[in-house]
Amino acid sequence: MTLPDTPADWTAAQLAADANWILTLDDRARKDLMAGLAKGRDPAKTLFDYRREDFDLGAAGPVVHRAMEEVKRGRGIALIRGFPREGVDEEGFRLLTWAIGLHTGCPRPQGKQTHYISEVRDVGTVYRTGKGRGYSSNADLDFHTDSTDIVFLTCYNKAASGGMSIVSSTVTAYRTMQKEHPDLAPLLLEPVHFSRQGEEAPGEAPSYPHPIVDFRDGKLFSKWNRNRVTSAQQIPGVPPLSQKHRAALEAFDALVRREDLAHSMWLEPGDVQIINSHVTLHSRTEFVDHDDPARKRLLFRLWLAPPDGDDLPESWRVLYGAVGRGTVRGGILGQHHDEGCKAFERRQAAALGMRFVDY
Ligand SMILES: [Fe+2]
Repeated sequence: MTLPDTPADWTAAQLAADANWILTLDDRARKDLMAGLAKGRDPAKTLFDYRREDFDLGAAGPVVHRAMEEVKRGRGIALIRGFPREGVDEEGFRLLTWAIGLHTGCPRPQGKQTHYISEVRDVGTVYRTGKGRGYSSNADLDFHTDSTDIVFLTCYNKAASGGMSIVSSTVTAYRTMQKEHPDLAPLLLEPVHFSRQGEEAPGEAPSYPHPIVDFRDGKLFSKWNRNRVTSAQQIPGVPPLSQKHRAALEAFDALVRREDLAHSMWLEPGDVQIINSHVTLHSRTEFVDHDDPARKRLLFRLWLAPPDGDDLPESWRVLYGAVGRGTVRGGILGQHHDEGCKAFERRQAAALGMRFVDY
């Protein structure tokens, strides 16, 4: 399959030399966000009680929407610098993250506990086990995609040392794979089992088959998580990988982390990293925290289904529940995806002209 030309096809050097995916909020936009937060914030409300119109993004609105365009139809990654951080408490920062989500799509559940915003911080989780999750550990993470169209990471505190963010284009990795390993590249189109790491919802199997690369309407879509593929091999009934298939996955994993492909960046407090999971992998280096609990590394993670994404390959249905553009899809439903969650999703879908499917 010949790959189409796309701005999501970039090398580390190209992304480093290109400032178009980095946007900075000016003082006015920052002031507008602070005012919007002060006006919209209501301690009596839960996240689900807020409506899009409760938060006026003001001059920050167009910047957020420009970044979203870059993520959806451009390079597959954007960084917004300068979100209000000084004088904003954790709860306020979480709400700012939520406010962006309400303005740009339908937030999706994350993990066994069905959180709609996760705190990315070290709570001592061991990453490399059958139930390990990276976001709650301080470990060096494998390059991976999250189970959602779009990921927001808003940085509240950075680590004392380490915790560097790394991104890599799967379009570039696949193109390089075709060139350097033409015999192995086609194996990436075949499904392999990914473990759900113990986060399966009632009725969901502990693993699911999914290709690493697939195509729809001439566009490439990708999914990868070495840790989950490795742990799925321990689940009874999961077909063992052939030696050649294993070699293909190893070659792909080596490519995405190769220095000329992977771009490293530091997220500073007030930075918002936005990633399109279908074309961009992410990773993070191990980190050491500050001793002071108030200064420990903390990012808020929001997962989102956009109202105007792409139709996904049919092979994505097993994980995303629905593949049509504009549907509320993706996320990890977890064990508490109840009527309250669905009512929120239905309402948010209606506000954005999206389709809600109860899958
Ligand atoms: Fe992630």
